Amino acid sequence: MHGLAIEAPSALAEEATLAALLRCCVREVAGPRGLVWPAPPYLLLRVAGTLLRARTYGGAALRFDGPPERLEGGTWRPLTTDELVGLVETELQGHNGEFAGQVAASRDAVAAILEARAEPPADPWLASEQSLVYGHPFHPSPKARGGDGWLRYAPEAHAEFPVRLLGVREDVLAEEGDVSALEGMGRAPDGYRLLPAHPWQLDLLRPALGTDLVDLGPGPVVMPTSSVRTVYAPEAGVCLKFSLDVRITNCVRKNAWYELAGAVELTSRLKPIFDEISVKHPATRWLPEPGYRSAALGTRLHEGLGVIVRQSPWAACSPGVTPVLAAALALDAPARDSVWWSAYVSAVALPVLELYFTHGVVLEPHLQNVLVGLDASGMPAEAVFRDLEGTKLVAGRHDLGGLHPEVARALTYDAERGWARVVYCLLVNHLTEIAAAVAGQDDGLLRELWRIARGLLAKHAADLGWPLPLSDLLAGAPLPAKANLGVRWARAADRAAGYVPIANPLA
Ligand SMILES: Nc1ncnc2c1ncn2[C@@H]1O[C@H](COP(=O)(O)OP(=O)(O)OP(=O)(O)O)[C@@H](O)[C@H]1O
Ligand SMILES: [Mg+2]
Repeated sequence: MHGLAIEAPSALAEEATLAALLRCCVREVAGPRGLVWPAPPYLLLRVAGTLLRARTYGGAALRFDGPPERLEGGTWRPLTTDELVGLVETELQGHNGEFAGQVAASRDAVAAILEARAEPPADPWLASEQSLVYGHPFHPSPKARGGDGWLRYAPEAHAEFPVRLLGVREDVLAEEGDVSALEGMGRAPDGYRLLPAHPWQLDLLRPALGTDLVDLGPGPVVMPTSSVRTVYAPEAGVCLKFSLDVRITNCVRKNAWYELAGAVELTSRLKPIFDEISVKHPATRWLPEPGYRSAALGTRLHEGLGVIVRQSPWAACSPGVTPVLAAALALDAPARDSVWWSAYVSAVALPVLELYFTHGVVLEPHLQNVLVGLDASGMPAEAVFRDLEGTKLVAGRHDLGGLHPEVARALTYDAERGWARVVYCLLVNHLTEIAAAVAGQDDGLLRELWRIARGLLAKHAADLGWPLPLSDLLAGAPLPAKANLGVRWARAADRAAGYVPIANPLA
């Protein structure tokens, strides 16, 4: 986008909202109908009978250079978000009375974030977590955050706030694993244990809270990370993943009871696997989620107040290595060369493939779930994988006997679904965006980057004995791109989201 520094927040918010919706239209609406045509320097597409065009670069990442336009009465005129929403509503089957409101709410949220942003935090990792002003580039309403008061808790506005400390009577305490990091956050009365709560979630849960919990007042100050509901508690040196009954992108962010238990279960199962991976790929790191705590006061409160303890990325990286959120690097890559890219792809992609093929583990390595550890010269030296909610075990590859059937079900994917998830997250969501950031408008460099990635993946495929799905991928099989517009339009659950095929840059 041009002229970012000088445009007003409302203009920038409109530009970014239009861009995200237009990307969805290319990928999910016009693309699958064969209604997208490259016409350099433009990309042309037709939505609901109207011809649209924009100058684009960055391959599948679809970055725009200048304002998108629509053809009207033989003349190209600037396209607005509201017009594009109208075209989408005409083109898509069925009716969704919420859709236009969600897009507009997201645009308003971006403008409010831009108004509120001040100095970023001094911690470079935290600054990267809080840098995603425009959010997911392929989502129709990336920043919509239900309800009022959200700005107080917004990472992009560099919020910080104290958690609220609750006391849970010991006889109704629910916990598994190691939650020792919570104990130092305050003092609970005799017979009670400390339960930190997100103040926004407490407001949302207020009517259901009942009288079994005691309010111990404010606790340590925390800072929200990019997911909003996971916060960093610097004094305790951990992250806390809270439930938040707010729709953020496609999900209401609730830790289901079987996900609380599943995180702890996965942490103990993944430990020996990651130990083994890091022998072959010493740059590999991950963020264990050793325990959770909640209150056994009915499912609503057990899930609504359940908090997962997660290791801090600083603790995962070696001394002298700075963790940076991959999504932040996709906005602003520190280098524009193929050596940096080679190091990046090796650190991030190879362990993901090794985990899938050798160990039957499906990571969810999208841009928001991966941190890249940069060394003093800014080179990718380590890759840190996080978020066990999206981490799954391939069905049939692990003995899940002894687990509660619901816990086992929630942490299993069949091989095919798992592979689609890996390819979507790693290639479509992640590496296409990093490649676009590295290459900028240099199409020749972009092609070179994919040649390099192909070489690295092919070498790894040979090491792994050419597993069929990876061979197909290297032979140019189309990539599965998650249909975020489709799932919002259908008002369906995130897990019901389908994929649309897009061209494979490795071909
Ligand atoms: N390119 C991207 N891909 C996926 N998510 C993105 C992207 N950019 C921004 N996001 C945001 O990142 C979050 C991803 O959600 P995800 O389900 O991985 O996180 P979570 O489970 O809520 O929290 P955590 O990652 O801390 O475990 C959403 O808020 C989404 O809007
Ligand atoms: Mg995540």
